Amino acid sequence: MSQDWFLPIKQVIQAIQSEAVSDAATLERFRIQYLGSKNILKPLFSEIAKVPNELKKEYGQLVNEAKQLAESKFKELSESIADQSSHADIIKPDLSLPAADINRGSRHPISIVMDRIVDIFSKIGFAVAEDREIEDDWNNFTALNTPDDHPARDMQDTFYLRDFPSLLLRTHTSSVQSRYMTANKPPIRILAPGRVYRNETISARSHCQFHQVEGLYIDKNVSMADLKQTLLFFAQEMFGPDVKIRLRPSFFPFTEPSAEMDIYWGLKDETDHRITKGTGWLEILGCGMVDPAVLQNCGIDPNEYSGFAFGMGIERQAMLLYKIPDIRYYFENDLRFLKQF
Ligand code: PHE
Repeated sequence: MSQDWFLPIKQVIQAIQSEAVSDAATLERFRIQYLGSKNILKPLFSEIAKVPNELKKEYGQLVNEAKQLAESKFKELSESIADQSSHADIIKPDLSLPAADINRGSRHPISIVMDRIVDIFSKIGFAVAEDREIEDDWNNFTALNTPDDHPARDMQDTFYLRDFPSLLLRTHTSSVQSRYMTANKPPIRILAPGRVYRNETISARSHCQFHQVEGLYIDKNVSMADLKQTLLFFAQEMFGPDVKIRLRPSFFPFTEPSAEMDIYWGLKDETDHRITKGTGWLEILGCGMVDPAVLQNCGIDPNEYSGFAFGMGIERQAMLLYKIPDIRYYFENDLRFLKQF
């Protein structure tokens, strides 16, 4: 069978015709393959010497055609790429545009409410004082006139540190009262926000960790009237000028007399019913005149000074303000909840 001298060229021509390029890199590959110094047409040109004389002319024309085709195709492909990159110019990013919003997260409702309370009391001269969450028995209980047999000390309520039985997780921010009074001289006007712990069964209304803000005011001639007016000011700033408050007599070992303050929230919807147990009233804080024995324990002369203290829960107030039906939501870190604030 005689050799088909034209077949390899025809194959190359076909290949060139079907080439397509998508970017500068594939265009360069095309150039090297068909037009570079070692392009695949070169060996076909060298073949001319071997081609029988009567076919030489036709063979030569065909190889030249292949070369021209490679050149014109290269030009065409270069233009299409250039076209593309000029489009790319148009959509090149505009660096003067403001950046796309990054996901910054949001503030936790407990922090929002806590800061608001701090703001309100700072208007009437209360400064923030913070202290430790791992407390000793003295500052959490004994200095605060809480006798050894008081039920609040029961293992049921307090988390003690297993290897250090005299240490515990503070059960209230009142521990900051004794620390501050021991270290500072009156007049004292502080607000102590922070986390507290109690060994309680976790439910929709109570948790083993929660937040309180403690207030303490010690000076000469501080009276119960000062306490009441301070709390009324707070309630109006926090819940609006029409809010009603009521003080109910109560008992705390470290205050005498003692009271609990309720605010009237009303019963507008189901959450109000649930949070206020159907009464419309919600207890938000405990308060009273600092017991003289506590002043004494902390090195302040009760004959010269008197004062009031209060401690309020944050979770319940935030539940009211944001209509949060279940206290457990605060600590579950569910983004669907957190993103709403
Ligand atoms: N420490 C009390 C509590 O945890 C609240 C309180 C603080 C009461 C200050 C009176 C004075 O319930």
